[in-house]
Amino acid sequence: MKITVIGTGYVGLVSAVCFAELGHSVIGVDIDEAKVAKLKDGVSPIYEPELDDLLKRNIDAGRISFTADITTALPETQVVFSAVATPPNEDFSADLRAVFIVAETVATHAGSDIVFVNKSTVPVGTGEKCEDIIKKKLEERNSDVKIAVVSNPEFLREGHAIHDTMQPDRIVVGLNGYEWAKTLMEDIYKPLTRTGKPILWMKRESAEIVKYASNGFLANKISFINMLSELCEATGGNIRDIAKGMGMDDRIGPRFLQSGIGYGGSCFPKDVKALIALSRETGVPLPLIEATHNINQYQRERYFKKILKALPANATVGIWGLSFKPRTDDMREAPSLDLIPLLLEAGHTVRVFDPIAMDNAKGMVKGEVTWSDNMMDAITDADATILLTEWDEFRGINLKKLKEVMKGNDLFDGRNIYDPEEVETAGLVYHGIGIV
Ligand SMILES: NC(=O)c1ccc[n+]([C@@H]2O[C@H](COP(=O)([O-])OP(=O)(O)OC[C@H]3O[C@@H](n4cnc5c(N)ncnc54)[C@H](O)[C@@H]3O)[C@@H](O)[C@H]2O)c1
Repeated sequence: MKITVIGTGYVGLVSAVCFAELGHSVIGVDIDEAKVAKLKDGVSPIYEPELDDLLKRNIDAGRISFTADITTALPETQVVFSAVATPPNEDFSADLRAVFIVAETVATHAGSDIVFVNKSTVPVGTGEKCEDIIKKKLEERNSDVKIAVVSNPEFLREGHAIHDTMQPDRIVVGLNGYEWAKTLMEDIYKPLTRTGKPILWMKRESAEIVKYASNGFLANKISFINMLSELCEATGGNIRDIAKGMGMDDRIGPRFLQSGIGYGGSCFPKDVKALIALSRETGVPLPLIEATHNINQYQRERYFKKILKALPANATVGIWGLSFKPRTDDMREAPSLDLIPLLLEAGHTVRVFDPIAMDNAKGMVKGEVTWSDNMMDAITDADATILLTEWDEFRGINLKKLKEVMKGNDLFDGRNIYDPEEVETAGLVYHGIGIV
């Protein structure tokens, strides 16, 4: 199948490369020419485990190519995936400008029937709006080309994106009518359905809602345990034991019950916000979603205040981890971006280290920090170590060594990865979340 993927970011690039790996003929399109130039050289602009090898292999096999010119990609294409970003506007609604531009561009240049698939996370009703834009453009062109608008939301996790794409729990496809498009979608995913991965067919509106519902639910689970962390601090409970006691119940499950400084990243904050905006727009109350957002904000601020209160004046602090989670260089809505300016404003000196995200962070961190070459440099002679991202290499740290090289003894564990007793035994003071 000839496929075009528009937007070669975290979702688009992984999807494009995986479609190629599954045997399709793929063209990746991006307006960012520097990104396209890198991709043509077989260099991934993002960090994602396994992606580099897969990218090179499929370029060498001639199954994938890249261009900044959509007009060269479209003529041969049967299915176009739009995977452009849908970031939050000031009022929390999703910014859909890129999605609409892509829809219009496809309608402008399509030379034969095409399936237009929205892979971006978009609010319910966006498919219909794309349909209107496409219809208008085709009428203007006096074209009898047919374009089917389909929703196929993406559920991959950064850091596990290749696995999630090649081994999806389910593939959600929403379409209203368009039997011919259904056949093409079936063909695209046949290499996966053949191995037992299910496609869930549903109305386009349902598919659009499923994605937000899933992220809203997971974010809610995180906010739920974070809400309880404060209760634990006030009463002497231990949030890890609460999470274990809840998570071993089959009906609840252990995942997303890890208390910490709250969720960040490019998806949960934005999708929760978009649901809040949708609630306002439709007049349908979504109080659990509002609470999820408020708790997340509160949890972050609460921990930051705790850090600022505990630090001595003019402290030197070493920050471990900058990306919003491990196994990615994605810095969007990372706690580090909020905490660093607060530390600097309070007069502290900040040294930072992240195994992968330093380059991305350099363009985003506000204020003067020292970019350390390794994790120990960041905390040598520091008054405090602040762990913000639970990269594996921070987990295995020798706590006695940490105590030896630090000047002070405060260890802020923003992800609750250390054992408080072990930390205290090493002579350090433990500051976790929901543990007293
Ligand atoms: N990142 C994730 O983990 C994830 C997971 C599931 C779903 N999603 C959703 O997928 C969508 C894309 O997210 P992302 O993280 O990959 O975004 P991203 O910012 O990494 O990538 C978007 C890409 O689109 C390109 N682009 C923008 N406008 C364009 C245009 N008109 N033509 C061609 N290219 C254009 C940008 O240059 C960029 O490379 C979002 O809706 C997001 O919510 C993301």
